[in-house]
Amino acid sequence: MTARLIDGKKIASEIRAEVAVSAARLAERGTKPGLAAVLVGDDPASQVYVRMKKRACEEAGIYAPDMHLPADTTQEALIERIEQLNGDPRIHGILVQLPLPRPLDESEIMLRVRPEKDVDGFHPVNVGRMVSGDPDAFRPATPAGIQELLKRIDVDPQGRHVVVMGRSNIVGRPVAEILSQKQPWANATVTLAHSRTPDLGEVGRLGDILIVAIGRPEFVTADMVRPGAVVIDVGVNRVDDPETEKGYRLVGDVAFEAVRTVASWITPVPGGVGPMTIAMLLRNTIKAAERFPA
Ligand code: GUN
Repeated sequence: MTARLIDGKKIASEIRAEVAVSAARLAERGTKPGLAAVLVGDDPASQVYVRMKKRACEEAGIYAPDMHLPADTTQEALIERIEQLNGDPRIHGILVQLPLPRPLDESEIMLRVRPEKDVDGFHPVNVGRMVSGDPDAFRPATPAGIQELLKRIDVDPQGRHVVVMGRSNIVGRPVAEILSQKQPWANATVTLAHSRTPDLGEVGRLGDILIVAIGRPEFVTADMVRPGAVVIDVGVNRVDDPETEKGYRLVGDVAFEAVRTVASWITPVPGGVGPMTIAMLLRNTIKAAERFPA
């Protein structure tokens, strides 16, 4: 078997086109949606992500001002900036790119973003609303993007066994939560496995749908995957490659070439989950502007 490719880039561009239509409709009614993507410091990967988010906003007609703060920004100064954005009527969504440089306290920062503007869905109020099954809660972009990918390839998780590898607050935990809920395009039986799970291969093979967000390059090999499984690879890892111009290449958490011979569907890296994260963030920003157009 050779797995079919899940073209996240194409699906994300369809969603971004839908977002552009919604943004134009809002603008006609006097509300240009606005997203503040706050970047603190000079982490190269974070810089790339924030630049891509801003560019996607501009293309969709969402106002996205520059919000780059120096690495030595204090906790107090960052909180003050967030408070300004909380009160800024041009800004409907706020995201603080993670990880923050040390010694900034991410948990406290997340608490300071007004829940109505928390388009990342990281504020405990939104986490709580999401976990209690409130369909209107902001859902974190990557898990929501994974569910949307399954929808667009018409693979309904209902009644299937979903194995998630990785228990981060950004991906593993919320995607396990979302796909086990009593909601359309969910209703799955979910196993949440992680680095301390004794035999990840044995658990992986249980998955009709295998979602990998474990942060280790090409960790999942073909023997860890159930034949015919749908494989969603959330990993983005730089590995040295002197053959390339940049000296590195990007690989996922799944050994793509080997696993594609056993899976039925698979996401590439790059071009799978990554573009969906951005598209869903834009969608959340529209949702925020529709609810609180002030
Ligand atoms: N860092 C890695 N993923 C994300 C994300 O979805 N949002 C933010 N703000 N930071 C991240």
